Amino acid sequence: MKHYTGLIERYRGRLPVSASTPVIALGEGNTPLIELKNLSRLLHFDARILVKFEGLNPTGSFKDRGMTMAVTKAVEAGSKAIICASTGNTSASAAAYAARAGITSFVLIPEGKIAFGKLSQAMMHGAVVIQIRGNFDDGMRLVQEVARDVPVTIVNSINPYRLQGQKTAAFEIIEELGDAPDFHALPVGNAGNITAHWIGYSEAAALATATAPDNMSFSDKRVFSSKRPMMLGYQASGSAPFMRGEMVTHPETVATAIRIGHPMSWTQAWKVREESSGWFGERSDEEILQVQKLLARHEGVFCEPASATSVAGVLRDLEEGRIPSGSTIVCTLTGHGLKDPDTAIAQSSRPVSVDATRQAIESVILSNMD
Ligand code: F0G
Repeated sequence: MKHYTGLIERYRGRLPVSASTPVIALGEGNTPLIELKNLSRLLHFDARILVKFEGLNPTGSFKDRGMTMAVTKAVEAGSKAIICASTGNTSASAAAYAARAGITSFVLIPEGKIAFGKLSQAMMHGAVVIQIRGNFDDGMRLVQEVARDVPVTIVNSINPYRLQGQKTAAFEIIEELGDAPDFHALPVGNAGNITAHWIGYSEAAALATATAPDNMSFSDKRVFSSKRPMMLGYQASGSAPFMRGEMVTHPETVATAIRIGHPMSWTQAWKVREESSGWFGERSDEEILQVQKLLARHEGVFCEPASATSVAGVLRDLEEGRIPSGSTIVCTLTGHGLKDPDTAIAQSSRPVSVDATRQAIESVILSNMD
């Protein structure tokens, strides 16, 4: 088998790259699709839920799919610096790919509102980290203003190459399942990822009806689907502009990754909902954290709070019958739980402290055996 180097090589025929494009890659993509077998038994739902664990990308989130493309194209165009506003994951990814490419990255983050793991990544990869006394939406506005005057390439999802990279998650799912699922659920912030997935599913469905050109590579030919899924976008209640039907001025949620009141892909996401006959939903912070814990405890999958929003949404909609039993549902788990250790520790019971003796250890073991 050929050494896996990343999604640009794997889906070259489906992406805007040429033979001379200098690919900046870290082996992103190719993430596992894990069926929630234990939760199905525990919660008695009659559906197949699979999670696409994007936390296993090189910097621990789905952003790497878009960043490999955005930085590759920035370098191809001769750019020496990239810039983004971020709730954390985009900054971590931008910093890593800029380091790999040998260019400078500037990242604007909301002071005090980004998970520690993400901040440590941006710092370690050598980004110029600018903390702003404002939220993500303020940062996004400033990035757009600054990029008009200064020679920096914006690598937020308004950069169209980001969505091109991110659409490949849909291709991988189709390859693994043999077709598109009935439903695909994602946590929604800027709504770039839900838009990107819809592009991917739409391309695969369109190809199924077209004749495959002769010059298509093997993997291109495999990614055909007979249908497109219904797209479900879930938000945290305190930060849910798609549920309110308007922008939210002061978004608040424990899921800081999706603490966004002014989604950049607002129009596109409404179109996705309409074209796919899907819907938006919201879950409270308590429900989100509860499901994050369920996934960690019963499935061995540790995702960050924002990511659990997709599964929390699907579980409720299954329970209420909105999603029919027997459905195949893919939920994207967008980021790794290690990104936000503070939130994880705050909701877990404290470790027991004992003397370093065999007796003390045995007594803890015995009191915890069923
Ligand atoms: N989940 C996680 C873990 C995220 O980091 C984000 C976005 C989303 C979901 C929402 O994705 O914006 O495409 O709808 N994080 C961005 C960032 C905003 O700066 O890291 P979306």
